[in-house]
Amino acid sequence: MARLKPKKLRLAILISGRGSNMRALVDACADPDFPARIELVLSNKADAVGLQKAAEAGIDTVIVSNRDYGDKPAFERALDNALRRYDPDLICLAGFMRILSADFIAKWEGRIINIHPSLLPDYKGLDTHARALADGRAVAGCTVHYVIPEMDAGPVIVQREVPILPGDTADSLAERVLEQEHAAYPEAVRIVAETVGPKR
Ligand code: GRF
Repeated sequence: MARLKPKKLRLAILISGRGSNMRALVDACADPDFPARIELVLSNKADAVGLQKAAEAGIDTVIVSNRDYGDKPAFERALDNALRRYDPDLICLAGFMRILSADFIAKWEGRIINIHPSLLPDYKGLDTHARALADGRAVAGCTVHYVIPEMDAGPVIVQREVPILPGDTADSLAERVLEQEHAAYPEAVRIVAETVGPKR
């Protein structure tokens, strides 16, 4: 007898720029055995390079520009409406450069994850690689974590370490960490699919 295929986790990916992590998720989802599929890619910036890449991959794209709204609550209402139309199981922040309010996060509790280019809780915020180098650290890395109202906090799903090499610059380190991000994000989505699963 044919076995029923488990339901895939339906993803919304939020970006603001290049979208290389989004593309890593697109590639992962191309494998029929990967337990997730992408419903939409949303950007707050109309000129995000990643949007074009998503459209080329045949994925629905949506722009919700914060500049079109008078304040953060109005922007987040528009964001929430756009997402509800697709009703994703999981929202993946992938270089999305807006900080989400506690109210917004509460509406999607346990359903938003983010990728950050450091081994959290070290180096929250921006310029993570330059700060790790300035501190003489031997190891850098990346983290995929659940989003909670406190920025760059929340339960860790996956971390990958990257050794800091002699002569590393913020750029060379960022490049090697990014390679690991591209493996870490699909790994984290798989873990969420297998542990939390779709909403219904
Ligand atoms: C990545 O380094 C990610 O960790 C951080 O923003 C960057 C986004 O890069 N949150 P990309 O748009 O996925 O290429």
